[in-house]
Amino acid sequence: PERLRVALLGCGAVGAGVLAYLQSRPDLFEVNPVLVRRPAKYGDPGRYTAQLSEALAGNPDLVIELLGGADRPAELMLSALHHGAQVVTANKAAVAKYYDPLHACAEAGGGAIRYSAAVGGGAPILETLKRLDGDVVALEGVMNGTCNYLLSRLGEGWSFDDAVAQAQELGYAEADPAADVDSHDAADKLSILIREAFGVALLPDRIAKESLRDVTPEAAQAALARGEVLKQVGRCRRLPDGSIEAEVRVVALPVAHPLAGARNEENRFLVTDGSGMVHQVFGKGAGRWPTATAVFADVMDAQRALLGRVPADLPAPVSLKLLA
Ligand code: HSE
Repeated sequence: PERLRVALLGCGAVGAGVLAYLQSRPDLFEVNPVLVRRPAKYGDPGRYTAQLSEALAGNPDLVIELLGGADRPAELMLSALHHGAQVVTANKAAVAKYYDPLHACAEAGGGAIRYSAAVGGGAPILETLKRLDGDVVALEGVMNGTCNYLLSRLGEGWSFDDAVAQAQELGYAEADPAADVDSHDAADKLSILIREAFGVALLPDRIAKESLRDVTPEAAQAALARGEVLKQVGRCRRLPDGSIEAEVRVVALPVAHPLAGARNEENRFLVTDGSGMVHQVFGKGAGRWPTATAVFADVMDAQRALLGRVPADLPAPVSLKLLA
């Protein structure tokens, strides 16, 4: 079978996991040198490059973007989509900020952009919203593993800095953990969820957010003593006039609240549909393997989209009517 040429841009906590997946399927994927800042840092320098032209050599069929930041990654994705490539990314900041141009460019170029790892990681929240197909009135969730982890550790009396350092060690935190701690990461994710749930553009900088910097171990412990848990919660709902209200706050939830039980890297979402039914979506939302697995699932979807076209000489499918 044909092998796809793959460009991998970025090799941090998630990228290294995705690279391992790609290398486990040499029958399917031929991976270009991986774009990294310092190739010398890696054991096998031939496999890594700091040159974008080498990472993108030979017009890759599939571009996997796992860089930090929003503007430059978006520019690279737009260019790949313009050339008809399939793009997979876990970059919430880029997808949130450039949602419209990325989708328009994918359509115009005949490629596609997939980003199921951008929100929820292994928790299938984007898939759930797709299934609900616009029948959503409200959504709330714990959607940042770092803050979740941090608030739990504060409740155990850890210092803020120690908890952040450990979240970095565990591979949950962004390259710059300020994105997590100041709630930009959750606002990026919420912005994407609002697009997918309501079809409304609300950019992350228009979403009210609260930083975790002022939360003390004492406050976290006092909440526990009251039978509550501090959680960073992102919320949005459609108002009667059709506009969207959204915010990311640190709130005290009763321990029995369904979002209160999210542990460490777990993400939890509650989606209320038009009939009032609340859909619970739980899963691992941060860290190398939960995220890399979600990215690789998109990669396999892209692979099927590129190579899985039904050959013309297959027999026509049996009609379901004939089976009835
Ligand atoms: N920094 C993010 C988090 C990674 O902690 O949730 C997953 O998006």
